[in-house]
Amino acid sequence: MSVRKTLCRLDAIPDGGAIAVDVESSTGGFALILVRQGEQVMAYHNECPHAGRRLDWAPGKFLIDSGLLICAAHGASFFLESGRCYAGPCRGAGLATLRVEVIDGEVRLP
Ligand code: FES
Repeated sequence: MSVRKTLCRLDAIPDGGAIAVDVESSTGGFALILVRQGEQVMAYHNECPHAGRRLDWAPGKFLIDSGLLICAAHGASFFLESGRCYAGPCRGAGLATLRVEVIDGEVRLP
């Protein structure tokens, strides 16, 4: 049996932007970054590979510039569409990704 968990509505994420979502689980839950590009949504764990900090500068507010998501702690930058490290103290380590799907205008964990 598969359980689908709705994270948010697609239109809750600004196109070209990102929001933070907390996911509850039996092991304590985890924090996600949802990045939207048109009808496509990418999900990354909200934990920087540099020093393990959240990437937002205020709850749910992210620095995005020229196709890059920038960690507010020390400036590591990651490609929006893949989470791969672009520059800064991430030194080649990318964001952990999670697969999500968009169905009927909702962003869901499969
Ligand atoms: S924790 Fe993100 S750049 Fe240091």
